[in-house]
Amino acid sequence: MLSCARGSKQNTFLEVTLSQAMTPTAGNWFGKWALITGASAGIGVAFAEELAAGGTKLVLTARRKDRLEALAKKLTESYKVQTEVFAADLAEPSAPEKIFAFTKEKGIEIDLLINNAGFGQYGELPSVDPQRLLDMVQVNCSAVVHLTRLFLPPMIARRKGDVLILASTASFQAVPYISTYAATKAFDLLFAEGLAEEMKPHGIRVCALCPGSTESEFHVVAGQDKFIPNAETAEKVAHTGLKALAAGKSYVISGLGNYLGAHGERLVPRRFVTKVAAGMFKPKTK
Ligand SMILES: NC(=O)c1ccc[n+]([C@@H]2O[C@H](COP(=O)([O-])OP(=O)(O)OC[C@H]3O[C@@H](n4cnc5c(N)ncnc54)[C@H](OP(=O)(O)O)[C@@H]3O)[C@@H](O)[C@H]2O)c1
Repeated sequence: MLSCARGSKQNTFLEVTLSQAMTPTAGNWFGKWALITGASAGIGVAFAEELAAGGTKLVLTARRKDRLEALAKKLTESYKVQTEVFAADLAEPSAPEKIFAFTKEKGIEIDLLINNAGFGQYGELPSVDPQRLLDMVQVNCSAVVHLTRLFLPPMIARRKGDVLILASTASFQAVPYISTYAATKAFDLLFAEGLAEEMKPHGIRVCALCPGSTESEFHVVAGQDKFIPNAETAEKVAHTGLKALAAGKSYVISGLGNYLGAHGERLVPRRFVTKVAAGMFKPKTK
C-alpha cells in the first residue's frame, strides 16, 4: 500500500466516484499517454489517480520502484488503463535521456508531460550538505529543462502536446531558510511561462502549477520543523493544475488565499516580504 499523505488510506468507493465526477480531463487526455515524474508520492500520485480515472495511459517515474509498481497495478485494475513504470533518479544528469529512451523503445508517444518531481531542504545554507543543494537544482531545474527539451520536438511534429511544470507559491518571493528551493521554483515558473508563449504557435500548451502548502511527503523530506497551516490536499492541487493546463493558462496558483498572498505581496517592499518569510521559516533551534 502507498504511504504518501493521502495515499496512505485505501480509496473508498465514494472517493473514487467523487474523483471521477470532478475529473476535467476525460476529453483532453482520454486514450493518450501521460508521463508523470515524482509519481511515487504526494501530488504525483494525485495526478496519476485523476488522469487514470479520465482514461489516460500512464508512464510513472520516480526512484521508489515498489511504490510505482503498486500504484500502476492499482490504477490498471481500477480504471483499465495501460501503465508503464520506469525507475530513475533525476539527480543523475543522464536520467532524462534514459526516461526518453524508455518511451521510444516502447513506441509510446507522450502527449502530456508532467514535471512534478521535486524536493526542498530547510535550514541555513551552510548547514545543508552541498551535494543535496546541487541535487535539488538538478532535479527541480535541470531535469525539468532536459525532459521538456526531449519530449517537445515529437509533440511539435504532431502539433499537439501539453506540459505541466510544478512551481510553487515560493516562486513569487525569496524564502529564507529554504532559499535554494524557492529559487529553483522561481526558475520553474519563469521557464514555464516563457515556454508557454514560445510553444503557442506549435499548438502546445505549457502551464506552471503553483501550489502553496500541500499535504504530501514534501515537508518531512525537507526536514521542516514548522507546521504551515491550511495545507491543501494533493488531489485538489493536481486537479487545479490539470484544469488550468486544459484551459490554456500559462500559470495557476492553487487556492484563493495562496493567490491573494502571492499577488498581494507585490504591493509591499520586497525586503519586507523576505523578512516576514524569514520569521515564518526560521528553524526553531536558531
Ligand atoms: N507539498 C507542498 O507543500 C508543495 C508546495 C509547492 C510545490 N510543491 C512541489 O510539488 C512537487 C511534488 O511534491 P510533493 O509535495 O508531492 O512532495 P513528495 O510527496 O515529497 O513527492 C515528491 C516526488 O518527487 C520524487 N523525487 C524526489 N527526488 C527525486 C529524484 N532525485 N529523482 C526522481 N524523483 C524524485 C519523489 O519520488 P522518489 O522519492 O520515489 O524518487 C516523489 O515521488 C514538487 O516539485 C514540489 O516542489 C510542493
